[in-house]
Amino acid sequence: MRLIAEPCNRVSGEVLCPGDKSISQRIVMLGALLDHDLKVENFLSAADPISTMSALEMVGFKYQYLHDLNTVNILNSKKRVTDPDSTLDLGNSGTGLRLMLGFLGGLNIKADYIGDNSLSARPMARVLDPLSQMGIKYNSNAGKLPINYINSTPIKSFSYKLPVASAQVKSSILLAGLCSGAEIEIIEPTATRDHTERMLEFLGAKIEVDNNGDGRKIKLSGQLDSEVTYYDVPGDFSSAAFLIISALITKDSDLLIKNVGINKTRSGLLDVLLEMGADIKLTNQQNIMNEPRADIRVKSSELHGINIGGSIIANLIDEIPILCIAASFASGKTKIEGAEELRVKESDRLNAVARGLERLEINFVELDDGIIIDGGNNVNVKNININSYHDHRIAMSFLIASLRSTEAITVDDCSNIETSFPSFMHVMNRIGLNIHEA
Ligand code: S3P
Repeated sequence: MRLIAEPCNRVSGEVLCPGDKSISQRIVMLGALLDHDLKVENFLSAADPISTMSALEMVGFKYQYLHDLNTVNILNSKKRVTDPDSTLDLGNSGTGLRLMLGFLGGLNIKADYIGDNSLSARPMARVLDPLSQMGIKYNSNAGKLPINYINSTPIKSFSYKLPVASAQVKSSILLAGLCSGAEIEIIEPTATRDHTERMLEFLGAKIEVDNNGDGRKIKLSGQLDSEVTYYDVPGDFSSAAFLIISALITKDSDLLIKNVGINKTRSGLLDVLLEMGADIKLTNQQNIMNEPRADIRVKSSELHGINIGGSIIANLIDEIPILCIAASFASGKTKIEGAEELRVKESDRLNAVARGLERLEINFVELDDGIIIDGGNNVNVKNININSYHDHRIAMSFLIASLRSTEAITVDDCSNIETSFPSFMHVMNRIGLNIHEA
């Protein structure tokens, strides 16, 4: 699907943020381990959480999914879990696959895994190696899909220092420990998103997190123990990021985004934007389901470039493509470094951003682990055609650049927006953009 974003210059209104993708995927796994039903609201009805839930259904977990209400009733079904009859297809979802390898491996489920072309090109040894050390063995295609379960020899305890800042690896190990009964200790040199730890704690598992010393130490021992029958997913900060930056880079904008998850391990972009001069205010701050959330009010701002690197990168990793669009219209240079993980996301996002910026004729230098963008002026180029590299976040980022373009921007292959933000076009058009199918 090819989308065209016509030039527009004002963003305003009030938007309810769609449910968090990472949390939606975690709750369909963890909620299914409870001894009773769990009702989940504000579930993200998008391709990634749905492919995760479908794979879980194939091993016998039961869900009553009310798509139009963004509600999932997770039915008490863990006793029916069994080896699936056919291959589990995780589509485009790295989180779905990596977490599932730990979750189902820990439950000793004999399954075969596949995914789409993008997922099939992504590195899986980062989870297969620690899982193998835990006694959960898989065959793979040199560390990539397809992956087949071999067997599992449970161990009593496992300690692991994460060699790469990855919440998916951390979560896969925690889920494997929870499901196999192994006590887990993880040392995380750089703090990554902690939704799994928070959800485990919320659902009564014995989990301790020590932030003193070098990095974080996470210890998990014991099973879920909870009477909770309701879970409300906070809004996805990563989706809110597209809205926030739309309002910041446009004149006379005033936007209220309601119910956004503002977990510190996710919302590093807020700190960065404030340092760049953004007018952003948080109101109605609450802690619900052990996750902080707030309403975010954003107004037009004159942004200026800054240097971004170090531990904050893990806390804004998915927002870097749209941050690059903000940097393109900020005065001066923005330097992002230490972000080499972007090369193994749904696409090589540093390359995809660089190729897109070339089309917009924005000055930049691509680094091995980041990018330097020399921002400022509006785009004034005819016939702009952007390659999304099949990547939802690249597609959405460059459509938003239309807010600072005098000509329309065409983005090829936007169908993967379905994986994380299916209502993107509708929401964006409601706040003032003009995006339509070619
Ligand atoms: C995610 C973790 C991050 C992030 C991804 C979602 C998660 O990936 O980029 O979109 O839900 O745990 P890594 O673990 O590869 O850093």
